[in-house]
Amino acid sequence: MNMEDLSKVKERIEKLRAELDRHNYLYYVLDSPEISDEEYDRLMRELQELEEKYPQFLTPDSPTQRVGAAPVEAFGVVEHPVPMLSLSNVFNTEELFTWHNRVLKLVGGRRFDMCCEHKLDGLAIALTYVDGKFTTGATRGDGLHGENITRNLKTIRSIPLSLPSGAPPRFEVRGEVYLPIAGFAKLNQERATEGLPLFANPRNAAAGSVRQLDPRITARRPLDMYIYALGWTEGKEMPPTHWETMEYLKTLGFKINPRNELHQTIEKVEDYYQKWLRQREGLPYEADGVVVKINQFDLQRALGDVGREPRWATAYKFPAHQATTILQEIGISVGRTGTLNPYAILEPVSVGGVTIRQAALHNEDDIRRKDIREGDTVIVQRAGDVIPEIVGPVLGKRTGNEKEFNLTEKSYDKEKGRPACPVCGGEVIKPEGEVMYYCSNAACPAQVQERLEHFVSRGAMDIRGIGESMSALLLKEGLVNDAADIYYLKDKKGQLLEIERMGEKSVTNILNAIEKSKDRPLARIIYALGIRHVGGETAELLADHFHSLKKLQNATRDELMSVPSIGPKIADSILAFFRSGRTSTSSASSKTQASNWLRRKQR
Ligand code: IVH
Repeated sequence: MNMEDLSKVKERIEKLRAELDRHNYLYYVLDSPEISDEEYDRLMRELQELEEKYPQFLTPDSPTQRVGAAPVEAFGVVEHPVPMLSLSNVFNTEELFTWHNRVLKLVGGRRFDMCCEHKLDGLAIALTYVDGKFTTGATRGDGLHGENITRNLKTIRSIPLSLPSGAPPRFEVRGEVYLPIAGFAKLNQERATEGLPLFANPRNAAAGSVRQLDPRITARRPLDMYIYALGWTEGKEMPPTHWETMEYLKTLGFKINPRNELHQTIEKVEDYYQKWLRQREGLPYEADGVVVKINQFDLQRALGDVGREPRWATAYKFPAHQATTILQEIGISVGRTGTLNPYAILEPVSVGGVTIRQAALHNEDDIRRKDIREGDTVIVQRAGDVIPEIVGPVLGKRTGNEKEFNLTEKSYDKEKGRPACPVCGGEVIKPEGEVMYYCSNAACPAQVQERLEHFVSRGAMDIRGIGESMSALLLKEGLVNDAADIYYLKDKKGQLLEIERMGEKSVTNILNAIEKSKDRPLARIIYALGIRHVGGETAELLADHFHSLKKLQNATRDELMSVPSIGPKIADSILAFFRSGRTSTSSASSKTQASNWLRRKQR
């Protein structure tokens, strides 16, 4: 190789390092990655291969030489007496078999079993117990030092705070804290309501939840934890294998994934992987692969580590829930608080067996940041039942005919000479410091219907029998104009019975469900009102503080801002909500608008 080629290699290595450092920071420190894990792994692999081939360019500060990023200081630092390692990856059967053959060679023909586990997409945590009590919980951090998040972890119900007698006097277990998919979807929905940036995936949501400075916020997130390793022990003999250790930890009250399996052959490991690859959609959590671990600890010790990865384990990754397709157009829908939500209209594409036609785009800033244009070939991603998302454009496929998105241009109404709500023609506003545009007309039929749907939804007043289509029908028939009217339906039984396909039984069920909803706790009622920026968590804080709707309604700006975590943005939104009297019956003109809009929607 001549000098010129070598300098090209060096240049590439430096470029990869800079890229990886940046993505590391985005992922570990800001919890806001810009690229997929697959893309990150690909860059890391390329760098590892180049450094192996050209060791003269290896430096101690290369991202291949370290484990993650430095912990945030706000939490206090915990030292890991035994470093928290990472895992090597394999991506197909051939690579799995190569890994297995290498292990076989290294152990010199000794027999071993392999434990197969799901690789949960959460964050690695170490829990220390002293004299049967949970004393310290820490993040992985840089592998040697993590953040002390004990108080937050104590809010996770599946973590035992004290253990039965007979537990080792001092020991540490490790595992994955994660947010189940349902909890992730709900959290993002709430964040959208509150105008907060959305979490890209359950991992980031779990990380964001666990690293809250206020443990009360963590407590409201449905976090969970599976234990997958013993970090270290003192004062008690432990079983000789990983499997038996997990069984033992189960007896101490730790949560171990019941889907773990022990296998003798690599073919069986492959079967386990294939089975869960087929069934991953049905899992309550996001798993990004299968972890294969050599079961016998003496062999684990003999195999040892390379850099930050043990030789005795590997992660067999699932293919991404991603596909590429054409973004035909960016549409705008109207949310319940009036937000104008851009969404992608896609050339239909199958992602993990589900056909995707639309995907969330969040807001204009996000679209600009990712440089997504109409006509682009884009990467679409979905996780479980969560609304599909656009990861970003495939820049190499640009033809020059793509069109940049501008919300005010897109919603511009020539006749009115200004941007207008695509549903009611109302004025479009963008409050200072916010990323979202809003339709300013509180009587906008799209908002009215969304508000009604939200009011009756599970997390709010939970009125069974009134879902999306029944809300639409009630509005269409003029039986309700807003949520408050629901409580007058009992006087309109005759009219309800006239609705198509509504029998005595379903009407009675709905009316009973309405009566039952009157007992909902105050926090649910506040949440159900659908006040801009007031999601479930904020509603609970408000209910704890004010104890009655009346007191909340009469609260001054200062009183509102004296509630922890409530700043001027939320306070002003609450004041505006009660001032606009959205809880009272809306005007006749909005009724006409609503039925016009519904007719259009049903077409
Ligand atoms: S074992 C030395 N088991 O994957 C091996 N890790 O890249 C230590 N993970 O940081 C990890 N599920 O957060 C192991 N069943 C599992 C896992 C698992 C998820 C994560 C863990 C770790 C990362 C390794």
